[in-house]
Amino acid sequence: MAKDSLSITDNRTGRTYEVPIDDETVKALDFRQMKEAEDDFGLKTYDPAFMNTAACRSAITYIDGDRGILRYRGYPIEELAERSTFLEVAYLLGEGELPTRQQLDQWTDTIKYHTYVHTNITRFLEGFRYDAHPMGMMLGVVGALSTFYPDAKHIHDPANRYLQRVRLLAKAPTIAAFAFRHSRGLPLVFPDNDLDYIGNFVNMTFSIGGRHKPNKVLQRALEILLILHADHEQNCSTTAVRTVGSSHVDPFSAISAGIAALYGPLHGGANEAVLLMLDEIGDKKNIPQFVKEVKAGGGKLMGFGHRVYKSYDPRAKLIKQVADGVFEQTGLNPKLEIALELERIALEDEYFIKRKLYPNVDFYSGLIYQAMGYPTEYFTVLFALGRMPGWLAQWEEMLLDKEQKIARPRQIYTGPDKRPFVPIEQR
Ligand code: CMC
Repeated sequence: MAKDSLSITDNRTGRTYEVPIDDETVKALDFRQMKEAEDDFGLKTYDPAFMNTAACRSAITYIDGDRGILRYRGYPIEELAERSTFLEVAYLLGEGELPTRQQLDQWTDTIKYHTYVHTNITRFLEGFRYDAHPMGMMLGVVGALSTFYPDAKHIHDPANRYLQRVRLLAKAPTIAAFAFRHSRGLPLVFPDNDLDYIGNFVNMTFSIGGRHKPNKVLQRALEILLILHADHEQNCSTTAVRTVGSSHVDPFSAISAGIAALYGPLHGGANEAVLLMLDEIGDKKNIPQFVKEVKAGGGKLMGFGHRVYKSYDPRAKLIKQVADGVFEQTGLNPKLEIALELERIALEDEYFIKRKLYPNVDFYSGLIYQAMGYPTEYFTVLFALGRMPGWLAQWEEMLLDKEQKIARPRQIYTGPDKRPFVPIEQR
């Protein structure tokens, strides 16, 4: 009997099976052979919300949730946040290695070449109501791009995939900035390719009557935040991109599915929900009562808890450092005081300790975005900008993975047994 294997006895039949263990994992399909009768379907595994199921092999991001470790392609997130740029990280995630100087220059030029969107996109945007949520606009426009680039359906051509990945990375800040300007009734500002990736985005969002004069500290802080969000292995939105992409649809459609998933308050929408929660608390003195209500089941402490991290989210640690630099420039956000006190109280509370609930990436990021001048409903769009390189790298990896097929889970049917149709007069 192989040492790296699992012996399973099916007590219905008394038969024993040997199932190989590879990478501390057993294959769900190895259970299919376990049947009571020959014409049975065989055993399935049941795992709602993928609590303990690996759906792919991936060489992109490594997370150790118990020890609070996050690495992109082997590089610690702390080092990338300190020393890298967003475009460099995007290259690393997509290509697997850090670029040489020459590769980076070429990559930067290629991205700049594709920052413009078709003029019809501006008219498409005009169709949104004045109060449309910017994340809804973002997901609509990114999805619509698939109609502007019908060539994107040639997903088996590597050069074509590369072009679409470049297009998505290059156009995402332009679309995000357009959504921002639309919400405010401001004229659109088009890309200025003399600026770098982040500078160009900041200019397209904030420029009024001439080029925006950037605050370098805030601009670098935004860049760090985007780096921290760039990938996070098989989270809800990445799984959405992989699942939708597995149907071999074009990448604009697959990425818009990721944006839709990120929109939700349990995922990227949490940074917006944190600010609403801090507003609701209103004052430090109300925190104990608020925490009491959360513990009694009256909602969640937004920005706390994580499916994978069971210790301090390493991104939240870095974001707290970024916050210090930002608030030195902008003055203290009064909500920061409430957030710090809320964190202190929660981390000492038995309820949160027992469940290993720590601040996640969203707990402090919203406060920083607000200090930078972005409205609450825009925070998730910033998350989407940051996550774009990760989605694209994961999409490419999924397509090249010979073990992957169209994603199609099984179910356990719980509905009625076969029954005859009842005419409407008899119901
Ligand atoms: N506040 C209070 N209780 C919580 C929280 C929270 N934020 N998160 C989890 N719990 C409790 C939960 O009620 C459960 O308690 P019990 O065992 O008594 O039923 C226990 O902790 C385990 O929680 P879970 O819901 O089984 O954990 P999960 O892995 O399914 O959920 C989560 C992870 C992130 C969805 C959840 O922690 C949550 O809803 N947090 C608030 C929303 C949030 O901040 N989301 C951002 C996540 S990080 C960025 C991103 O992914 O986009």
